[in-house]
Amino acid sequence: MNTAQFIPDRPLETIEKASFTWQTPSNIALVKYWGKSDPQIPKNASISFTLKNCHTITTIDFSKKETTAEAVFELFFEGKEKEEFKPKIASFFKRVQAYCPYILGYKMTINSENSFPHSSGIASSASGLSAIAMCLMSLEKALNPNLSKDALNKKASFLARLGSGSASRSIEGPLVVWGNHPEIAGSSDVFGVQFPYKVHANFENYQDAILLVDKGEKQVSSTVGHNLMHEHPYAENRFTQANENLGKISKILQEGNMKDFINLVESEALTLHAMMLTSNPYFILMKPNTLEIIHKIWEYRLAKNSNICFTLDAGANVHVLYPENEKEAINQFIESELANYCQKKQYIYDSVGLGAKKL
Ligand code: DP6
Repeated sequence: MNTAQFIPDRPLETIEKASFTWQTPSNIALVKYWGKSDPQIPKNASISFTLKNCHTITTIDFSKKETTAEAVFELFFEGKEKEEFKPKIASFFKRVQAYCPYILGYKMTINSENSFPHSSGIASSASGLSAIAMCLMSLEKALNPNLSKDALNKKASFLARLGSGSASRSIEGPLVVWGNHPEIAGSSDVFGVQFPYKVHANFENYQDAILLVDKGEKQVSSTVGHNLMHEHPYAENRFTQANENLGKISKILQEGNMKDFINLVESEALTLHAMMLTSNPYFILMKPNTLEIIHKIWEYRLAKNSNICFTLDAGANVHVLYPENEKEAINQFIESELANYCQKKQYIYDSVGLGAKKL
């Protein structure tokens, strides 16, 4: 694994002050990342749809100062200083400083906001950390104007991964693979790559409605969940299965077989949660309404011969996935039936997006 390629190897320009703003999306995994080794190396490859509407907007103001041993920054979230978010960002800067030594020569003021409601149970680490990574890369581009767009995106994904694994899949779109896989050309454990093959028209502008079943803080964080895979009795089989599923979904995405897509995506979601159920200590992140919604989706699919399906993150919320040509009917089904199982009847309509945007 060649990570030395990410250490700047030429003298950099001098810049006193700079400010960059990026909008970066959340993503939803179809084949799930669950289990990792240090430093944030996935135990299996994963693939996700990049989202369009669920995003973070982050501005970082950089002003030159004496170089110090640790990164110096202030952090504001939705206009308010956020002490509780600082340790995660501080450890992110520590991890990336070998690759971005220039950050030690700047005071950074970070201002961040999410498009989705705060504490909606939607993971903000993917969009949040990819936004910071893009701002750092904009500074690097200013300091080293020779940096190509490809090299910039690759390093941004590499940096984002060091903050949160799934954040490596939030730089580009519409489909990103993270993790070395023999059937995905260019794939790597250290950064995400755009799915390199032509995708069937069935998956164009695919829809994702996020049903907010439980907006509370999760009882078990993803980091703890990943770590429980170390002593897990089914871990090795799971990692093998996930890599096999990635090979299968690559074909499905190219050929457009909807029934196979539904089967694989739902099985991945349930297997992720089965890993939680069979960890020790065991835990359950689904809520009764998560299961109610799943059964309703199955009934609807059968009755209407629909291609609706679901996936789950590490939480109780349900992502309802469906092709664009069923949008009208399924949105109606969501509003009239599924919304009843959501907290305060809240849900978010999203669809597949193209990745990070400079504002
Ligand atoms: C269930 O990326 O949040 O969403 O690397 O510890 O920050 P860390 O974990 P995180 O894990 C996400 C797990 C998942 C599946 C996925 O997105 O692939």
